[in-house]
Amino acid sequence: MSRSPLRPAIVRAAEQLEVAGVHSPHTDAEFLAAHVLGVERSRLALTPMVTAEQLAELRTLVDRRAERVPLQHLTGVAAMGEIDLAVGPGVFVPRPETELLFAWALAQLEAVGHEHRPIVVDLCTGSGALALAIAHARPDIEVHAVEIDSAALQWAQRNADNQAAQGDTPIILHNGDVTAPDILSNLDGRVDVLVANPPYIPESADLDPEVADHDPHLSLFGGRDGLSVIRPMIPTVTRLLRADGLVAIEHDDTNGSQVAALLGATDAFDAIVEHPDLAGKPRFVAARRTV
Ligand SMILES: C[S@@+](CC[C@H](N)C(=O)[O-])C[C@H]1O[C@@H](n2cnc3c(N)ncnc32)[C@H](O)[C@@H]1O
Repeated sequence: MSRSPLRPAIVRAAEQLEVAGVHSPHTDAEFLAAHVLGVERSRLALTPMVTAEQLAELRTLVDRRAERVPLQHLTGVAAMGEIDLAVGPGVFVPRPETELLFAWALAQLEAVGHEHRPIVVDLCTGSGALALAIAHARPDIEVHAVEIDSAALQWAQRNADNQAAQGDTPIILHNGDVTAPDILSNLDGRVDVLVANPPYIPESADLDPEVADHDPHLSLFGGRDGLSVIRPMIPTVTRLLRADGLVAIEHDDTNGSQVAALLGATDAFDAIVEHPDLAGKPRFVAARRTV
């Protein structure tokens, strides 16, 4: 079987992706090559030669990436914490910045007392990313996740089944609206840590084709001001958290102070802190439920 060198193919792929406007052309070319070869990206150097079939498969994927299909739809996976999630059309692709919310939740759970089994809620779970990554890291806790969209919920169920099959503590998925007055009412006043990455982009935002054409509309937009889900979700957060329970809500980088103000206006929270992302942009607000 004839083989040809991989490296020039990756260089050509990166050039094609750069011309197409892909933001990280070289990285994406390497991820696609690693996907075709079934290896970690860091181990590509150990496979210097590839078959004609592998080269053809790589070209096909690069052409699709050049059409701005998201990298994760082509490889079929996205990461959160220590786990990989299956993703594709119909569900939001988890973003690296949401790792901050995951890390925040784990840090808060360290401080939760051991007199009861801690309860975590993930509102707007999408693929189940936050809920499943938390359940993987903390098998001792009870994790609930809420999602309104049935297509997204199917991805979350598939990911939940995968993680449970690998030995993780199963999470409890709920099909519902996080703004509904009775959502998760059996958990009223019992939740230790609540995380939410809701739709929060203002409708007027200009988005890359990977996002605008592939993430579900319902997963992205939060009305004109980006707060159309966050605002009516605050009563749910207030109702669910126990005294001293903690919440973190991801938001658009234009909206940090507004989310902090919404929490503050309830008079039910203190320790309201705005957290930046790795680029220094306001990314999530955390707060503690007062007694
Ligand atoms: C930005 S995505 C976040 C998904 C996941 N938490 C993550 O970080 O990858 C927002 C999710 O919220 C869901 N959603 C939108 N409005 C909702 C509502 N009112 N109630 C429950 N889920 C909602 C969307 O379908 C979408 O899956």
